[in-house]
Order: sequence, then C-alpha cells, then structure tokens
Amino acid sequence: MKLNDEQIKFVEELLGKMTLEEKVGQLNQESTSIVGGFDVPFEELIEMVTDGRISQEEFGKIMASAERDYHEDEIRAGMVSSFLDNDPRKINELQKIAVEETRLGIPLLIGFDVIHGYRSVYPIAIAEAGSFDDELMEKTARMAAKESRAYGICWNFAPMLDVARDSRWGRVSEGPGEDPYLASKFARAKIKGLQNGNESGECYVAACTKHFVAYSACEAGRDYNTTSMSLSQLHNVYLPPFKAAMEEGACSAMASFNDLNGVPCTVNSYTLRDILKGEYDCKGFVVSDANGIKECVVHGIAEDETDAGVKALNAGLDMDMGTHIYYNYMVQAVKDGKVSMETLDDAVRRILSVKVWLGLFDNPYVDEAVIAAYEAGIPESHKELCLRAAEESVVLLQNNDDILPLNKDTKFTLVGELADRADEVVGAWSLGWDVADCVCVKAGLEAAGAKFDYYPVCGPEDEINEKELKAAIDSENNIVIAVVGEYKSMSGEASSKADITIPGQQRKMLQELKAAGKTVIAVLMNGRPLALGWEKENIPAIIEGWHLGIQMGTAIAEVIFGDVNPSGKISSTFSSMNGQEPMYYNHPNTGRPGSKSKFTSKYLDAPVDPCFPFGFGLSYTTFEYNDLKLDETDDEIKATFTLKNTGKCAGTEVAQLYMQDVCASLVRPVKELKNYERISLDAGESRQVTMSLSKSDMGFYDNQGKYVFEKGLFRIYVGGNSRDTLMEEIRLD
Ligand code: BGC
Repeated sequence: MKLNDEQIKFVEELLGKMTLEEKVGQLNQESTSIVGGFDVPFEELIEMVTDGRISQEEFGKIMASAERDYHEDEIRAGMVSSFLDNDPRKINELQKIAVEETRLGIPLLIGFDVIHGYRSVYPIAIAEAGSFDDELMEKTARMAAKESRAYGICWNFAPMLDVARDSRWGRVSEGPGEDPYLASKFARAKIKGLQNGNESGECYVAACTKHFVAYSACEAGRDYNTTSMSLSQLHNVYLPPFKAAMEEGACSAMASFNDLNGVPCTVNSYTLRDILKGEYDCKGFVVSDANGIKECVVHGIAEDETDAGVKALNAGLDMDMGTHIYYNYMVQAVKDGKVSMETLDDAVRRILSVKVWLGLFDNPYVDEAVIAAYEAGIPESHKELCLRAAEESVVLLQNNDDILPLNKDTKFTLVGELADRADEVVGAWSLGWDVADCVCVKAGLEAAGAKFDYYPVCGPEDEINEKELKAAIDSENNIVIAVVGEYKSMSGEASSKADITIPGQQRKMLQELKAAGKTVIAVLMNGRPLALGWEKENIPAIIEGWHLGIQMGTAIAEVIFGDVNPSGKISSTFSSMNGQEPMYYNHPNTGRPGSKSKFTSKYLDAPVDPCFPFGFGLSYTTFEYNDLKLDETDDEIKATFTLKNTGKCAGTEVAQLYMQDVCASLVRPVKELKNYERISLDAGESRQVTMSLSKSDMGFYDNQGKYVFEKGLFRIYVGGNSRDTLMEEIRLD
C-alpha cells in the first residue's frame, strides 16, 4: 500500500480536524448485533447450535428472522470506523449515514471473511496451495476481490497465512500448509491478486493477513491454546509468509488470539511494533481478532477492560474488533495520559490511509446493478477459474495397478452420503455461495455420463445403513467409488480434533466393502490431512479431493475418467496414526534419527515415517529425475537435472528443490523447500531443467531473531516430493 503526496496530505489534514472522540471512533469496528425476535437469549441459541440441540439449518432460519441493530446512532456520532457485514444494500445505507450525516464524512471500511472466494468458491487454501501454481493463486484472489468489492466488501480478512504442522488443529484448512517457503509464495500471490488492482485499474480490496502470529503452533493442536517457541523458530517458520505479504504491500494484519511465549499477540509489542511495523515496515494497520482485546483479561494479562485497551493500543493494535473497549475507555485513557496522542494519531493515520488507498472517499457506495447481476448468476469465466483451481488442486494419493482412470463404460457403485452433498463442497469459512452453483461428486459423475448406482450408506456422523450397504455389496458392480471424509464444519475455527482418522462409521463401510471383495476407490472430502494408515494399506486407489469449491464434482469426475491428469501435491504431511501428530517434513534433525535400532527417535507402535510425505502426489503418467548437477555463481546455486515423462500420457509435474544446511550454529531442518516449478511434458518427452536457489535464501534466523548465513556444506535435493529425491553436495566458502 503506497499513498501519493496528495493522499498523504489529505490524511494529515483530516487528522488535524478530528476531535479526540472522532479519533477514537476510527479505531472501532462494529458488526450487526442480534437483539432479539426469538424465544431464547442469543447466547443460549449459540449453545443450542453448538451442542446440536438445533441444526445449522434451523439456526440459519432463526437468524434470518432475527431483529438486528446496525448501530446507526454510533455511526452517526462518528464513533464507527469499520463494519463487519456482507449485505450490500444495508452497507449502502450505513455508508450513507457515515458519509452524509457525520461531521467529517469519513466512509466506513466494510470488512468480511472472504477466504477462498465469495460467490464463486474455489478450493480451500490447504488444497489450492497444493497446486504449486502461483499464477492460479493470484487469479483466484483477484476474482474474490472483484466479487467482494461488488458486494461492498472492501477489506477481506485474508489471506490466512498460518504455517500449520499439526493436523489436529481445525484451521489447517484455511491456510497454505506446513511449509514456510510455499506459504510465502502463496502470500505474495494472494496479496497481488487482492490488492494490485489499485495499480492496474481492476477491482481490488485491502488484504488482512492473519493470524499474526504463531496461532497455528497451539499446544496439542487445540484452537486458541498457548504457544511457546524460540525466536529462531518464530522467525524461520511462522513469520516468513507475513514478511512476504508486507513486502508486497499488504494493507493490514489481524493479531491472533494466542499468547506467544506468555504475551497474547493482541498486546504483543515485539510482534506488532518491533517486527510488523518496524522491521517489516507495515504502513497499514492491525486489527484485533474478534473479542481479542477483552480476552486479555481472561488470559490474565490485563486487570480490567481499560487496562486491556491501554496495553493493546500501546502495543500497536490499531483497531478493536468486537469489544467496544477502545470506544468505551480510550478517550479517558488518552486524557489520563495512559495512551499518548502520538500513539493514537499513529493508529488513526494508518486506518485513514487504507480508506484513502481504497478510494472510499471518492466512491463509497456499492453499485446495485452489479449486485443484481451477481445475484442473477456468477459469470462463466468465474466458474471456469473455479474448475481450473479444483483440477489443479486434486491429489492422487494412491493408484495401485493403475485402477484409475476408469473407462466411461465401466459400471460402478457410488457410496457415501458426502457424494450427494452439494452444500459441503465449499468447505469451512465460505459465506457468499449459492448451493445452486455447487456441483457435488454425484452430480459431476452424472454430468460426465457415468453409469452407476448410488447408495449413500453412511456419512461422517451416521450409522451405517445396513440395507444400503447390502445393496452395494450384492450389486454386480465390482468397482465401488466411496466418497468419505469430513463435513465442512469438522474443520475451520474451533474445530480441533484428537482423532483425525476418517470419522464415524465411514472406515467401517470401507472395510465391509473390501471384505466383500469389491475394488474400492476412495474419494476424500476433508479440511485437514487425515491419518490414513489403514486406507493406504487397504484401499487401492485414493483421490484427495479436499473441499474443492463449487466445481468439486466436475473436477473429481474428470480425474476419475482421465479427462484431467492429476498434478496436485499435498501441501502438508499426512500421518498414519493420530499419535504421530504434529508431523511435518522440515523437522530439525535429532542426534538419533529414527531407525531400526531401539534407542532412536521413534515410536514402538507406529512408523516414524509419514503416510504420505509433503509435496507428494501421483499422476497417470510417471516422471523420472536424473543427472543432477550443481553450479555456483556469485549469487546463486543452479541445480540442473533431466526430467523425463516415462509413462504413456502427457502430464504435469511439480518439480521441487530442497536444501539442507548440513552443519550450522543451530540445528537446521533435514530438508527445506526452496523452489518449485510446474513442468508439462508429453509422453516420452524429456527436458533439461535448471532451478536456482539464491544464496541470500540459504541462511536462517538465529535466536536473537537475526538473519545469518553460515558458509559450509549444503545438500541440494530435487524430486517430485520431499522424500524421493536426487541429492548433490556443495561447499560454500
Ligand atoms: C476468526 C477470524 C475472523 C474473525 C472475523 C474470528 O473468530 O478467528 O479469522 O476473521 O473471526 O469473522
């Protein structure tokens, strides 16, 4: 985010005209309050939906008829800066109050969670990152920006950049996986896609990188839990995608709920002031996560709400989401000298700058004709992009004896309740879609002209329907495609799980089908890497379909019939058993790496190796890597190798380059991803490929948070996943 001189002058003049109250008002975000219109208090309603007394659908219906307070009076008083909502016509009404009825006419910043698409939902982030396609990631973000801006949302609470190494944590679904390099590339692509329209003249929004920081390192994978780590780990693993996003000019960041080494990120001046606004030179602002400031009292880091507000604002937290603490107490805190005017001005300046950068002072309103057009249907080009993203994100995990692709004339049986759930393909944190646009697996197969019988048998939470299972078993069809996995509500926020195997009786269903002699093809629909030890041993073909968005069914059918040759890779390690978590490929070496010998780092009852390693994914063809050679120039290492398509059809391979710093002053990871490239080859074609690794990327952060490069021996690996690689050594002096 960059402002020109005229815009900077505008912000300064506006700031100069503001009263203390108006300044504090600019730090306040409101959302619609539910004030009644139903029989039980709102809090109880939330409990009822949480404990299952009412379904999500019933809850939705009650909410739709609830009475709401849009805080018009506070807006009119100039005490609201931002509003969290997605009703475009209401947004226009509220904006009109802010622009026409307040003393200074400062427009509202409308924020909302648009994580993987709005109307046109594309794959969840953990899936899309597995496409290893930066251009695609940028394009999908641009589409999301266009759609959100059309609905009046000009500030997206995305991208979510939490590097996640523990699949028990439900929010792994929202982020780009376990690798800091891939996450940083994802971050750059998303910021460009969301924000670059500011220069190119296309639609754009302000990005909000989240959750800052180390939220995903929560102990035991339990959401909101405490995190503690060395400075080296913080800087090497969790901060890099945020650094990359800030280098691309990201407009804002959201402070995470967790405490980091004892200091909640909401009041953490080291992460907010020293790192984000200092070292990374963030010119935008920081918003708390929902209710975050108030929670500092519960954390036991602030005595009361005033204390929490003072600590947060002084630490560099500019906008309060959801608690009214700034609104209620910060005027007095400034008068009492607990917060300086300089600190307040800095926060207000940052927020106003984003509003100016967004052009809100020139054009604050939503064009209702554009909304009407979207309401009538999403553009074909958006559907096509969602399909391409789904096709590139599907991962073929197993294909014994080349069972797949199927011939279109093969009659099969389809089982699994999820196969027929169009409302489940969109994954967690998707809020603007219409089920009429969503293609479930069953519909995708039907549209492809497949011949099959369908028996739901069971879903993630049901008992097996024995009659349907018997019908599937008694059928003459030998091949059974089983769509199994998780509902979208089983991942995302507050959805941590201690058991990450395929939930409910779905595995039992697979076991019964296998025992009956069926050839089972599993299509997984899930938001987290599942522990697939049993499935790997027993199910000959496994397609990882994640929650692929509105075009899920079409993409899965294309893969099943070979119209699309899968090229996606997993952006996160898959373990075999629950107890192996957290499991990630880029772990530090131990002095006793796991081996056959007893006194090494391993389990007595589980393998030490992953079920499927990071970067893994099969194709209907095969690729061979040969002749790795390294060359050194002043600035970089060039790795040259031959990649050959050794199979019978054309395909795309994601070639990956890793490095290992063999001996350093701190224990370094056994491998670190440093580059990747999607390479398409015809059957039999071979190509000499050169991938480079800049020397400036070969260092690491030490325990003072300082980046150091240490000369010595390095290993360079290339391959199609993090496990199966060629290796050469090089010594840098
Ligand atoms: C989540 C954020 C989200 C915010 C606003 C919070 O509960 O942690 O990711 O952006 O709500 O909806």
